[in-house]
Amino acid sequence: MRLMPPYPAVAPALLALLWLSAVRASASAAAASAPNIVFILADDLGWNDVSWHNDQVVSPNMQQLVDTGVQLEQSYVQPLCTPSRSALLTGLYPFRLGRQGRPLGSKTPTGLSLDHTLLPERLTHLGYATHMIGKWHLGYCNWAYTPIERGFDTHYGYLLGSEYHFNHTIINGYDFREQREADFTANGTYGTHLFADRAVRIIEEHQGSDQPFFLYLALQNVHLPLEVPDEYLVHYPEDLDEDRRLLLGMVTALDEAVGRVVQALKDTGLYDNSVIVFSSDNGGVGMNGESNQPLRGNKGSMWEGGTRAVGFVHSPLLQGTPRVHSGLLHITDWHNTLLALAGESILPDNDGFNQWNSLVDPSVTSPRTTFIYNLDAESEEMSLGAIRLLNHKFVMGEKDLERGDKTGPWLFNLEDDPNEAVNLIEFEPELAVALELLLLEELPNVVPRDEPANDPAGDPSNWGGVWTPGWCDVP
Ligand SMILES: *[C@@H]1O[C@H](CO)[C@@H](O)[C@H](O)[C@H]1NC(C)=O
Ligand SMILES: *[C@@H]1O[C@H](CO)[C@@H](O)[C@H](O)[C@H]1NC(C)=O
Repeated sequence: MRLMPPYPAVAPALLALLWLSAVRASASAAAASAPNIVFILADDLGWNDVSWHNDQVVSPNMQQLVDTGVQLEQSYVQPLCTPSRSALLTGLYPFRLGRQGRPLGSKTPTGLSLDHTLLPERLTHLGYATHMIGKWHLGYCNWAYTPIERGFDTHYGYLLGSEYHFNHTIINGYDFREQREADFTANGTYGTHLFADRAVRIIEEHQGSDQPFFLYLALQNVHLPLEVPDEYLVHYPEDLDEDRRLLLGMVTALDEAVGRVVQALKDTGLYDNSVIVFSSDNGGVGMNGESNQPLRGNKGSMWEGGTRAVGFVHSPLLQGTPRVHSGLLHITDWHNTLLALAGESILPDNDGFNQWNSLVDPSVTSPRTTFIYNLDAESEEMSLGAIRLLNHKFVMGEKDLERGDKTGPWLFNLEDDPNEAVNLIEFEPELAVALELLLLEELPNVVPRDEPANDPAGDPSNWGGVWTPGWCDVP
């Protein structure tokens, strides 16, 4: 039969409609069995500041999740908050985004590049509800950079990198929001308590729903300033160093929040089809009671103490638990791993590997053999970077924090020397050169640091005392 007008004119619209409803149907069909994903990112939590590495630490809820889950022992992150969070949500090394340098400052007129699709946006397309709680730190000078414009249905928390835990103020401004609105009811309540309450509420609201959810719970603990309600200090001896005692109290408060989230999943019956991932964003600061012992170095460095993060995955869907996962895993891997878990069949091309099979199945090893710790070409003389290949780590150069000059290079065998004590550069010069070349291959792909000068327009005095978007243009 020949198609007669006006059919041809209507056909494209009709087809588009049919296609749309087919897509929606398949998205919700996938959604019905797709697991809920809770990604808990701790802030500045050190290697030695969890009970499974140090029995002085009181973190019974997380310990229980580790004891019945998969403990991640070679899970690597970036040395600092903004770069790690950028890598998590894009699946890309920060040097491809201009985010390899300093964390975003409170008046920096930029944010995480808008050219890339973030994980929550992709999960939304797969039929997920997407919620973010806690710290953003990926730019806020324009609303376009903020969580609800970047794929999250909801955001409850703060936009900058740190603040006082009770009054939610940093420098001269308040920073706490419910969606776009400043939320002054948070003033006076401990951040980690607020975030746990909200997480529990979101989970309860999903009870009985067919729609799976992604909850990105970016907790404030144990970032400075050292503040914690007294009730958490009773777990630690009074004669402990004061900073250490406060820090460990903050770990116990963090642990309680994690425990409440898991309990809510169980109470609502959502636990059986949920996956909980826990990671620190970088190592501990190492100067105010935090510790990455016995690893070398701290937050801000490419040493293991800055980049090898505590972490675990817990879910009734995992096989052969408890188990230690010693394969290489990098923070860029979560993007594709979680997408695969959510049912995405065509994974985006990025720096990550889909690790889901190696996490769920004890007989599968990590698909990753190499990764770049960081790569930064501050100037022609100052290329800094480090690369891992199997057990070896080559550090092209680190910036000496006191003197500002470049030190290195180093070569380590982390299997024999996990604490980076013995520089092998003179013993294995060919290997060092080969690794340096591998790293230098990426140098032409380094996007220059996106670190424009502070703009006083962002000062809270212009915005009623609240750190507020609206004072920069987007490219
Ligand atoms: C917030 O709390 C800190 C620590 O107690 C205090 O030093 C600071 O002045 C407080 N800021 C405001 C605006 O209340
Ligand atoms: C927070 O509460 C304190 C104590 O009531 C008050 O002094 C401060 O002004 C409040 N901060 C804001 C931003 O409202």
